[in-house]
Amino acid sequence: IKKIAILTGGGDAPGLNAVIRGVVKAGIRKYNWRVYGVPDGFEGLVIGSELQELTEYNIRGILPLGGTILGTTNKGNPFEYVVIENGKEIVKDMSDKVVEYLNILEIDALVVIGGDGTLGIANKFSEKGVKLVGVPKTIDNDLKATDYTFGFNTAITTATEALDKLHTTAQSHHRVIVIEVMGRYAGWIALESGIAGGADVILIPEIPFDINKVCSKIIRRNKLGSKFSIVVVAEGAKPIGGEMVFQEKNVKGKAPRLGGIGYVVGEQIQKITGMDVRVTVLGHLQRGGSPTAYDRILATRFGVAAVDALAQGKFGHMVCLRTPKIEVVPIKEAVKDLKKVDPNGQLVKAAEAIGISLGR
Ligand code: F6P
Repeated sequence: IKKIAILTGGGDAPGLNAVIRGVVKAGIRKYNWRVYGVPDGFEGLVIGSELQELTEYNIRGILPLGGTILGTTNKGNPFEYVVIENGKEIVKDMSDKVVEYLNILEIDALVVIGGDGTLGIANKFSEKGVKLVGVPKTIDNDLKATDYTFGFNTAITTATEALDKLHTTAQSHHRVIVIEVMGRYAGWIALESGIAGGADVILIPEIPFDINKVCSKIIRRNKLGSKFSIVVVAEGAKPIGGEMVFQEKNVKGKAPRLGGIGYVVGEQIQKITGMDVRVTVLGHLQRGGSPTAYDRILATRFGVAAVDALAQGKFGHMVCLRTPKIEVVPIKEAVKDLKKVDPNGQLVKAAEAIGISLGR
């Protein structure tokens, strides 16, 4: 290996730049490789964007920066690439073009940083013979193969800070404040930020909720003198027997999501308890900003481990945290299923033991 390229795909997460920095520094210092950055994920390779050489000098200062200096996109799966021909949308397999482009540029190997979607694409390229290593990324922390993904700690820190702030205003006004947080189909962000932020109710996709149980918790608190409550709702939460309101924006044939489950829960609480309710949707605040120290360290370790994995010929693998070690697993295994909260696990039990209602 002489030349490697690095790309970031899918939604961003705080710590991406720390991984890039780790790859560049370790690639140059340990192996004397030249490292190139691909703009906008796989899309950049499909459209033949110019790759920029990354050096210790031009990446200076990126460690504390949120987002990705390389850019990213949710579009541009080379295996199902949407092109417009004669005014019509057609889906084309552009993967051979990507392989050809990498050959022309004499890129020997790739580091692909992404969530399950991007890593799935990486796996297909690996099966086509592209030498690559994956780095798991998502604020949702829903990848089974790794104890933690970078970005998650920053997301729950942001959500916890929001909960602290919402507490003071909820208490002053004797209100119920519902805060909707991200997490897709998993409740990690809601559960962990809810515990850290002293929530009274936490609703997660893994435990369908009973709104009457939620309301009796709030009414009980009122009677005991706590005339305010904080309810954390994961965007994927759903009532018992009901539908999940949350859906991915880019799912074909489905309407984009408008308003979330937070509003539905807020309205029902207002109706049943008669209390004054406000709803906050935290949204992309959870994805932005400077990574926490934890995420910077994890991201740096992932970057270094990805470079080592390439050097050791562990292509088609993904780096992961198996506390306290960084290890590698085949990408194919890693993207198979999502990591969900165990409804009867220690974390949920601890929350319930201190009186937090999970709505069941
Ligand atoms: O997967 C990360 C995530 O932030 C989810 O928590 C959220 O549902 C989704 O991405 C939002 O995606 P977009 O940025 O496309 O709105």
